[in-house]
Amino acid sequence: MSSKADIHPGPSSDSTAPGSGTDIAAHADSSGRLATAPAVLGIGAYLPTRVLGNDELARLVETNDAWIRERTGIIERRVSAPGETTADLATRAALAALENAGLAAHDVDLLLVATITGDEAPRATAVRVQHAIGATEATAFDVGLACTGFLAALVTAEQFLRAGGPYQHALVVGVDRLSAITDYSDRDTCVLFGDGAGAVVLGRGEGELLDHEIRVDGGRGDTITTRATRIGPAHAEAPEAKGPYLTMRGREVFRFAVQAFCDRIEQVVQRNGMTLEDLDWIVPHQANQRILEAGARKLGVPMSKVITNVSTRGNTSAASIPIALQEAVADGRVQRGHHIALVAFGGGLSQGVSLLRW
Ligand code: ACO
Repeated sequence: MSSKADIHPGPSSDSTAPGSGTDIAAHADSSGRLATAPAVLGIGAYLPTRVLGNDELARLVETNDAWIRERTGIIERRVSAPGETTADLATRAALAALENAGLAAHDVDLLLVATITGDEAPRATAVRVQHAIGATEATAFDVGLACTGFLAALVTAEQFLRAGGPYQHALVVGVDRLSAITDYSDRDTCVLFGDGAGAVVLGRGEGELLDHEIRVDGGRGDTITTRATRIGPAHAEAPEAKGPYLTMRGREVFRFAVQAFCDRIEQVVQRNGMTLEDLDWIVPHQANQRILEAGARKLGVPMSKVITNVSTRGNTSAASIPIALQEAVADGRVQRGHHIALVAFGGGLSQGVSLLRW
């Protein structure tokens, strides 16, 4: 059924379990190759200031605050202001992450942006951000894997850093402006989505990216899709196709997401010689509170270990994991040394996990 493709570097050889004594400050060897896995050096996020509440949506479509809260857990979400671009959101998050890491833009050798809502076709959002922050030395390109995009970008950046050479610091941004592809006359989807950006800086330091796995199942791609492509109608014979708005089969996505949540965490924990108890935190893609609760229940972990902010952020696709993680770091829940599983599921269909020691 699922065609497994993809990016799975496997557990890092030098650190397979918590407390395995990998008190690392990673070092580069003479080739510049990192002797240990890179770490997160800084984290930042940006949310547009405009709040879109449930009552406002209830004036646009036949819905109500009680239904949205009960079925999704969402109370409000942020949406960008007219003229505020995806690159603008990404730039703000990128600068916040750099400041948090105590690094300057010229220190960035690689700049990856995970997004499915880039502002323009020929110029990657990463390239726009590279220019906006003045990261003149950075290789920059986008990674598109919907809600799993941030994890796909994270593992891509890790491979560059492990290869060494000119790549010592990477800036990885997850950003989406889903309001740009949301049909605000479709109650099935418009209650879910929001805009935002989150970013991390990777390099040598405390903590460690331990393991990743990204899987895709292109055969189920039409479960979440758009009726038209961004560059023209998908079907000339279907002029009614509204474009490029997100559509989905919600219940099917729900079931897929709960299963992916469990499978990916169970496997990564097992592969690294850990148990679920060894995990301090799970930071899932913020799709729907009920998905997260069902996933935690099925997996057998208490919700107190699951970081959620979907109630006030909605589903921000590639941005949701780094935003949730940034909030948990900022308020002190996540501490140095904690073991964290980031888990994502969404368009593709795609799913992924990253295991890290903070
Ligand atoms: N307000 C009121 N009623 C609604 C609304 C709404 N906004 N939306 C749907 N309904 C109705 C339906 O029409 C249906 O009515 P019916 O029983 O008369 O047919 C009823 O509510 C129940 O609909 P369901 O689809 O069964 O509701 P469910 O409990 O499954 O919740 C939801 C729907 C919230 C979409 C849920 O399935 C879900 O969260 N799915 C996953 C969505 C997701 O994560 N998508 C990923 C997006 S892609 C990306 O992130 C980029």
